[in-house]
Amino acid sequence: IKDVYILGIESSCDDTSAAVLCNGVLLSNVTASQDVHRDYGGVVPELASRAHQQNVLPVIDQAIKRAGISKEQLSAIAFTRGPGLMGSLLVGVSFAKGLASSLSIPLIDVNHLQGHVMAHFIKEEGEEKAVPPFPFLCLLVSGGNSQIVKVNAYNDMEVLGQTIDDAAGEAIDKCSKVMGLGYPGGPIIDRLARKGNPHAFSFAEPHIPGLDYSFSGLKTSFLYSLRDCVKDNPDFVEQNKEDLAASLEYTVVDILMKKLKLAVKQTRIKHVAVAGGVSANNGLRNAFHEYAGKYGWTIYIPKFGYTTDNAAMIGIVGYYKYLDGDFCSIDKPAFSKVTF
Ligand code: KG4
Repeated sequence: IKDVYILGIESSCDDTSAAVLCNGVLLSNVTASQDVHRDYGGVVPELASRAHQQNVLPVIDQAIKRAGISKEQLSAIAFTRGPGLMGSLLVGVSFAKGLASSLSIPLIDVNHLQGHVMAHFIKEEGEEKAVPPFPFLCLLVSGGNSQIVKVNAYNDMEVLGQTIDDAAGEAIDKCSKVMGLGYPGGPIIDRLARKGNPHAFSFAEPHIPGLDYSFSGLKTSFLYSLRDCVKDNPDFVEQNKEDLAASLEYTVVDILMKKLKLAVKQTRIKHVAVAGGVSANNGLRNAFHEYAGKYGWTIYIPKFGYTTDNAAMIGIVGYYKYLDGDFCSIDKPAFSKVTF
């Protein structure tokens, strides 16, 4: 049987990434991040799109070189078709279509969110690891999404609950901005939180029925508390940043885990995974270990490199779709809205 080489391409937000897999095993994964957004405190779509255009060719070239193959050996090209920023997506989508048509190989479209969930199935060379059995639950938490997903198969996922306003990552990033910290705030809050007291401050938690989330109230509560304290003491944030970060992280993790616990109770599925950029967070990772011990969950936590946007996760979905012969026609457009 011929080896299956998949090139994965990801360009949905501000990371240009390309990966090559052979028979589902990762050979290379190259990502170019964009520093250009730092000064603006958030991703600027037009700048992201332009940076993708500069990065896409060298990143793909590197990924193929590092895999030790030639582009003529590729069996198919998998690309993120959505959801994401339209201008960013278009760069990866157009490049994938052009390259696939010049090599006369099939195209495979991949949903970015399914990619995050399937990051648990990325296998490196020589690696033996336990993958979650279907069905499993996945807490998908990133800058743009906060969802509890029931994963029935690699291509069959049900959203059991999701945020009705902001995502967890977005809330953390905004609160960190209010504190005058850098962008993105997630990793900074994570670092500060390790030295702080999680019970120093308390912020409002939402009361939303069912398995849905809400983070906008927490953001407002954080902003108002800070504003009041800074009025009395202009150095308040500087003097309390570790405690503020720890208390904020504690509240976000508490909100996320309470609903996840309810989802486990309702579905009776005890195989629980976490995915997306916020799954890099230490407080959240510790909570997963704590719940595993307390409630008998089997937990799946991705390697740090596969938490944020990467093409390896797009490539692995591409590999499974290739085996099923699930290809995409060249006229399928990119899409920006969140769907599973
Ligand atoms: O998955 P991702 O790279 O992009 C989206 O698809 O949205 O997630 C980015 C989000 C940002 O909000 C970032 O602040 C957050 O993940 N993040 C973290 C950590 N690392 C990244 N949040 C908390 N703790 C971290 N260590």
